[in-house]
Amino acid sequence: MDLFSLKGKNIAITGASSGFGHHFAGVLSGAGANVILGARRADKIADRVSEINQSGGQALGIPLDVTIPDSCADFLHQAEEAFGPVDVLINNAGVEAGAKTYAMIDEDDWDFVLDTNLKSVWRLSKMYTESVVKNKQSEGNIINVSSITAYRTIKGQFPYAVSKAALVKATEIMALEGARYGIRVNSLAPGYILTDVSRILLESERSDTFVKGIPMRRYGEFEDLDGPLLLLASDGSRYMTGSTVVVDGGHIVSEL
Ligand SMILES: NC(=O)c1ccc[n+]([C@@H]2O[C@H](COP(=O)([O-])OP(=O)(O)OC[C@H]3O[C@@H](n4cnc5c(N)ncnc54)[C@H](OP(=O)(O)O)[C@@H]3O)[C@@H](O)[C@H]2O)c1
Repeated sequence: MDLFSLKGKNIAITGASSGFGHHFAGVLSGAGANVILGARRADKIADRVSEINQSGGQALGIPLDVTIPDSCADFLHQAEEAFGPVDVLINNAGVEAGAKTYAMIDEDDWDFVLDTNLKSVWRLSKMYTESVVKNKQSEGNIINVSSITAYRTIKGQFPYAVSKAALVKATEIMALEGARYGIRVNSLAPGYILTDVSRILLESERSDTFVKGIPMRRYGEFEDLDGPLLLLASDGSRYMTGSTVVVDGGHIVSEL
């Protein structure tokens, strides 16, 4: 299926030391991409890079803190130095503030989550857009990792859910404004999949009742995201921009 091939494409992934980003790096490499992995835990990135390289892929790890402008600039610069212009940027890094309501969080919780999940996406996307223009690339592609918390309303995920809802709107505006540079911008909104970000809910006593609200009656698995990821990263989505692809077993259309 050439339409979904990523052969020769350079794809930079933030938050690739664990969870989705770690998994995405392998999937994208398997489809032929050169992958650039960024996150703060350099040892975990290095392990993943060597796994991918040993299985015949082309991967590079770069220490990255998305909340630090110089670190973001360095990440994109080093990625380009290694493989050439970046074809796809995946803004995946994300954090949550624990099971807290809006009345429980403090200024630091708000800044921690919003800086990582939202401001960094703007920052990296702006830097990426500047490099697409500078390199005279005919096209670019940004994928933002949002969440079904952008659509569902549950207690105790503030300000995480606020950041993810804002990311849906950011995706739409960036799509509108990025089109003049040939840049497509879409987002992926996964449902609940067990990782460090979701552990606090999925391993709580609410878990059994919570899963009954998912029409497909199970939490997601990493592999459930592979098809939508390959669609958004490849030419298979060449006429898609401003879209959010929800992958949640029907959770947002549930009555519960
Ligand atoms: N799991 C779910 O059910 C679910 C559902 C919907 C959406 N999501 C979203 O999916 C994305 C990935 O999360 P995950 O579930 O895979 O959790 P995870 O395993 O905790 O992954 C989060 C990643 O973000 C990185 N990160 C955090 N702060 C960073 C920073 N300042 N700079 C660079 N990297 C940073 C972490 O790496 P370091 O700590 O090494 O920096 C880690 O690699 C997040 O945006 C999350 O909101 C998750």
